[in-house]
Amino acid sequence: MKAVNIGLIGLGTVGSGTVEILRRNNRDISGRAGRDIQVSRIAVRDPGKAREVDIAGIPLGDDPMLVVDDPEVEIVVELVGGDTLAREVVLRAIENGKHVVTANKALIALHGNEVFAKAQEKGVMVAFEAAVAGGIPIIKSLREGLSANRIEWVAGIINGTCNYILTRMENDGLDFSDVLRDAQALGYAEADPAFDIEGIDAAHKLTILASIAFGIPLQFDRVHVEGITGVSLEDIRYAGELGYRIKHLGITRRQHHGIELRVHPVLIPAKRLIANVHGVMNAALIRADAVGPTLFYGAGAGTEPTGSAVVADIVDVVRALTSDPDNRVPHLAFQPGALARLPIMPMEDVVTAGYLRLRVVNRPGVLAAITRIFGDRDISIDTVLQRGHDEENGEVTIIMLTHNTRDENLAGAISEVEDLSVVIGRINLIRLENLA
Ligand code: NAP
Ligand code: HSE
Repeated sequence: MKAVNIGLIGLGTVGSGTVEILRRNNRDISGRAGRDIQVSRIAVRDPGKAREVDIAGIPLGDDPMLVVDDPEVEIVVELVGGDTLAREVVLRAIENGKHVVTANKALIALHGNEVFAKAQEKGVMVAFEAAVAGGIPIIKSLREGLSANRIEWVAGIINGTCNYILTRMENDGLDFSDVLRDAQALGYAEADPAFDIEGIDAAHKLTILASIAFGIPLQFDRVHVEGITGVSLEDIRYAGELGYRIKHLGITRRQHHGIELRVHPVLIPAKRLIANVHGVMNAALIRADAVGPTLFYGAGAGTEPTGSAVVADIVDVVRALTSDPDNRVPHLAFQPGALARLPIMPMEDVVTAGYLRLRVVNRPGVLAAITRIFGDRDISIDTVLQRGHDEENGEVTIIMLTHNTRDENLAGAISEVEDLSVVIGRINLIRLENLA
């Protein structure tokens, strides 16, 4: 049978890994897919650039539209990134009746509702396994492997760059900016690394996970987003002293009155498996009613781990090429007509515990004044530590862990405590989850 032609747009970190895997594992891949698969055309920004991967004999140009308009191309693989050109090429590919594979979480999180509606109308598939957690088959697991379950919550380390930075800070005592440079050199970071360290990339991925877990439309603009720029070496050390690790998590949870959708640094007990996921590795902990907890672990970024997920999607699409469009796995797990309009909860209503670090004047009554404010707001304090006493200026650092409380209560107490004349500067809040 004739080989399936792939049109590739983008031959950077992920594109190179994809081409290399298709070349190296060609026999196994064709055996699984049922057809030979070949890359028949590639578009990049600069065709003159030296490439590390062997693309001899494959036409290479700088116009993505030549790829999406090529009648010989059956599957367009979009590995450019961003949500402008990528949206344009993906919508045009679909319009041309081509199937699409993409690793682009920004595209899916921001424009997925439009893209999937168009794909449904045209009877084509849009596969996006590589968009969340790199090489871990988390989309397939959640969408297919757990389809018997009512999903209760998902908590994931879903940005490899953040996890790599937090790990190197903890293990090597390194500064944030030095480690970020390493993560960029290793190909983990986004083209604009602010997307990683400010939590936007994780929010894109969480948007996708929540949609598939709960059968809700993609709602990126409703995610509460915080990055890791506020996490200091001091916080990592104090958390360790108290038996916790700081991880950057995406959390989505079904509650009676809606869905939690939040991305922020979290203290988790050091003994939890997910607290021991280090470096660029990702993990997603899923709690579902029938199966209980399941943990998915693997490389969350990088050339071949991500290429692995792209190629698996290509195989899935090739296997399904002959199937009736109405009998395919729905893009967002639930049939388009079965998506629910569950509200996303405002962050103020989310209940978590808190870790607070504050610098105060070391004088009798200071701790009592602070704890009174917390007590007045019905926030129960679990632990208090006093560290970093500076004799010269009479200051000390206080670390407090609270019990669970509404986020709004915590924010109100923090603002009131910051107004005390004995409190120096701002209070650093990191939320705490037991993930039991
Ligand atoms: P990358 O290394 O920056 O590669 C981007 C590729 O797109 C390059 O080959 C570039 O061409 C090409 N390109 C850029 N603008 C173009 C244009 N106007 N026309 C044609 N080609 C153009 O990016 P990446 O890391 O591979 O990421 C690709 C996608 O995968 C992104 O959506 C990213 O979020 C996602 N992703 C990445 C990872 C990872 O570990 N890096 C993991 C999961 C998902 P040149 O080579 O000529 O510059
Ligand atoms: N920049 C992303 C990360 C790449 O660090 O996780 C994988 O999506």
